[in-house]
Amino acid sequence: MHDTVSDDIAPQLEQLRAEVDVSLDRYTQFNSDCPDKLRSAIRYSLLAPGKRLRPCLVLLASEACGQQYSPALPAACAVEMVHAYSLIHDDLPAMDDDDTRRGQPTCHKKFDEATAILAGDALLALAFQVVAQEVPSPPISVRCLQELALTAGACSLVGGQVADLAAEFGDLDAEELVAIHRRKTGAMFRVSLRLGGIIADASAEHIDALDAYGERLGLAFQITDDLLDVDGDEAAVGKRVGKDADQGKLTYPGLLGVVESRNRATTLIEEACDVISNLGKSAIPLTQLARFVLARNQ
Ligand code: IPE
Ligand code: IPE
Ligand code: MG
Ligand code: MG
Ligand code: MG
Repeated sequence: MHDTVSDDIAPQLEQLRAEVDVSLDRYTQFNSDCPDKLRSAIRYSLLAPGKRLRPCLVLLASEACGQQYSPALPAACAVEMVHAYSLIHDDLPAMDDDDTRRGQPTCHKKFDEATAILAGDALLALAFQVVAQEVPSPPISVRCLQELALTAGACSLVGGQVADLAAEFGDLDAEELVAIHRRKTGAMFRVSLRLGGIIADASAEHIDALDAYGERLGLAFQITDDLLDVDGDEAAVGKRVGKDADQGKLTYPGLLGVVESRNRATTLIEEACDVISNLGKSAIPLTQLARFVLARNQ
C-alpha cells in the first residue's frame, strides 16, 4: 500500500499503469492454437497506450479498503479487457466507424473487420477466464464474475451502446442521455470500484460508498469525453474529434452547451469525493483521481 499521499496522483497512476501492462502482456501470450493474426490484433488494441483508468480504479479501490493492490491485479486486467473489447467494437463501421484509437489506426483498419470482431470476442472471454483462474478465493471470484457479467451485458454496457446508436439524430432529453451514459460508461466505472472493494473483502457499507463514487465519476467522465470531442486536441486524445456532431450523436455539450456540461461534471466530481469521505485517508488517491479526470485533456 502507498503510505505517503502526494498532491499529484499522476506518478502513482503511472506506476499502477505499468504494473497493469506487465500483467496484460502476460495474459495475452496464448499458445500456438491462437492464430498469429488474432494474437497480434488482441495485443495491438489491448496494449496500445490507453489511460488504464478503469484498472487503476480497481487497484485504488482495494487500497482504499485497506488492502494491498496486487491481489486485485487480475480483476483490474479483466476490466481493461472488457473495456478494450468494447472500444474495438465501438469503432467498427457498423457502430461509430472510427479510424483512430489510442493514437493509432483502429483494429479493423490495421487488420480487417472480421479480425477486429473476433479479437473483441476473445478479449471478452479472456476477461472471465482471468477472474475465474486468478482470483484465489472461489466465493470472491464467483462474486466478481457475476458483477462483471452483469456490467458487460444487455442491461449495462451492451444495452447502453444499443441505446447510444438508437439515439443518433434523435430527440432525447437530459434524463434519457444520462440513462445512456449510465449504462455505456458509468457501469464499467462502478464495477471497477466494486471489484476492488470485493477483493479487499470490504464491508457492504464501503462497497456502497465506492459504488456511489464510481457512478458519479463515470458520468463525469463521459461528459468530459463528450467535451473533448468538441474542444479537445486530436493528438492528445488519440482519436478523431468532432465526430459526435458529425454522426448526430446525442451528447452533453450538444444538449446543454459546453459551460453547463462542464458545471455538471464539476458538481459530479465534488459529489464523488464527498461520498467516499467515510473511507478516510486511504481514499485520498481516489479523490485526487476524480479531480484529475475533471482536468484531463486526453
Ligand atoms: C473511451 O474510454 C470510451 C469512453 C467510455 C468514453 P477512455 O477514454 O478511458 O479510453 P482509453 O482506455 O484511455 O483509450
Ligand atoms: C464508447 O463511447 C463507450 C463504450 C465503448 C462502451 P464513445 O463512442 O463516446 O467513445 P469514443 O469517443 O469512441 O472513445
Ligand atoms: Mg460510441
Ligand atoms: Mg465511439
Ligand atoms: Mg466519445
